[in-house]
Amino acid sequence: MSEQNENKMEKIVSLCKRRGFVFQGSEIYGGLRGTWDYGPLGVALNNNIKREWWKLFVDSREDMYGLDAAIIMNAKVWEASGHTGAGFCDPLVEDVKTGERFRADHLLQDNGIEAEGLSLEEIDSLIADNAIKSPKGNELSKAREFNMMFASRVGATAGEEGKVYLRPETAQGIFVNFKNVLDSMSPKMPFGIAQIGKAFRNEIAPREFLFRVREFEQMEIEYFVKEEDWETEFEKLRKDIVVWHKHLGLSEENIREYDVPENDLAHYSKRTIDFEYNYPGKGFDELAGFAYRTDHDLKNHMEASGTTMEYIEPDGARFIPHVLEPSFGIGRALTAVLCEAYTEDEMNGEVRTYLKLPVHLAPYRVAVSPLLKNKPHLVEKAREVFTELKAEFSNVAWDDNGNVGKRYRRQDEIGTPYCLVIDFDTLGEEAPENKDTVTVRNRDTGEQERVAIADLVGYLK
Ligand code: GAP
Repeated sequence: MSEQNENKMEKIVSLCKRRGFVFQGSEIYGGLRGTWDYGPLGVALNNNIKREWWKLFVDSREDMYGLDAAIIMNAKVWEASGHTGAGFCDPLVEDVKTGERFRADHLLQDNGIEAEGLSLEEIDSLIADNAIKSPKGNELSKAREFNMMFASRVGATAGEEGKVYLRPETAQGIFVNFKNVLDSMSPKMPFGIAQIGKAFRNEIAPREFLFRVREFEQMEIEYFVKEEDWETEFEKLRKDIVVWHKHLGLSEENIREYDVPENDLAHYSKRTIDFEYNYPGKGFDELAGFAYRTDHDLKNHMEASGTTMEYIEPDGARFIPHVLEPSFGIGRALTAVLCEAYTEDEMNGEVRTYLKLPVHLAPYRVAVSPLLKNKPHLVEKAREVFTELKAEFSNVAWDDNGNVGKRYRRQDEIGTPYCLVIDFDTLGEEAPENKDTVTVRNRDTGEQERVAIADLVGYLK
């Protein structure tokens, strides 16, 4: 990976902190590995991603139903889904001297050895054959399975009965509500249930900024189909995912579809495509997953709970639907959006940094400024314009810090597509023909034009 690309990621992480997108979790206490906090602009960008996803996959379609299930679920859910077993484990090795724990497959990869889908025995032999040591140079223990679910307890019960898990995926909340949605909404086949929410995984080695964390958000759909239709519907949804990634502003050359080989498929899947993004300093790695989960989940929940998960056709035919699952991690989407948008160029003889975010994702659509903040009549007029635009768009910034040049640079760095300046012309004090117009500056080109206040809403739309 080129040094330039590695630097790019560092610069993005630093911009995220400096400008209020993403902070280290529990930072004032030394942080907590694998957790990150979203600051004011990170929340805005995150919310915009979630809103656009919901609009595209739920609101604009007739075949999708929304859901928001509880994070704490009955422990039996995870037994039935297979998450308490070996299917949801990562291979762990320990430094025998320090006790530090590592993901065995990551250690192998860091030593240039392909490590996908290996058994514990294969991992042990590769570690021995290649004399791989811990990062501190010590011997490593034998590999063992480590379950990634966070366990907790509900209420005051001390024994096993109170044991619960924080959900490691939002998907199971959908499966356990399948019958409720059938009964309350009478959906026609094929149909999907969509959910956005937090998921938790006790990752052995959280790393690479938001890429692998212990607490994250997912946007998931379980799309229920007749078994014989799965391939046709898979192709349709695959194309919808391509449209979604375009809508995020991600360029085609930075997205790759990876058909996961059979020996690497998750325990529930018969076909999976990983949508990969070309992260700077890292290369192509998973952005979102798209899996054909067969009838594995509904069948298991039907057996374990005793509740029927059958769909009944108008002619009385009964069957357990098969499932297609597009699954998106919001942190990875946000990282990809920032990587794609991060741009350095030269303007007016100086290097400048800006985020070329699509307008529908930018935290602020527009920033409004009075040319000078110590001129009450300019400020009053600017406030008037600001209030009018805020009523229309809501994500409008008021910016009167520093001089206009500095404001432009700051707004460029957070991706605000337009800056408006209210000046003496606006008041008709210098060029009467410009009365009631403002300067609008374009983030990407730096070009400025005068636009009538009356036309601003249409212009910005
Ligand atoms: N329900 C299927 C499922 O959860 P997954 O491939 O394990 O499948 C789906 O996760 C998506 O969730 C991934 O493509 C990724 O975007 C995100 N994701 C998973 N684990 C993550 C982690 N530890 N940190 C950040 N994002 C994660």
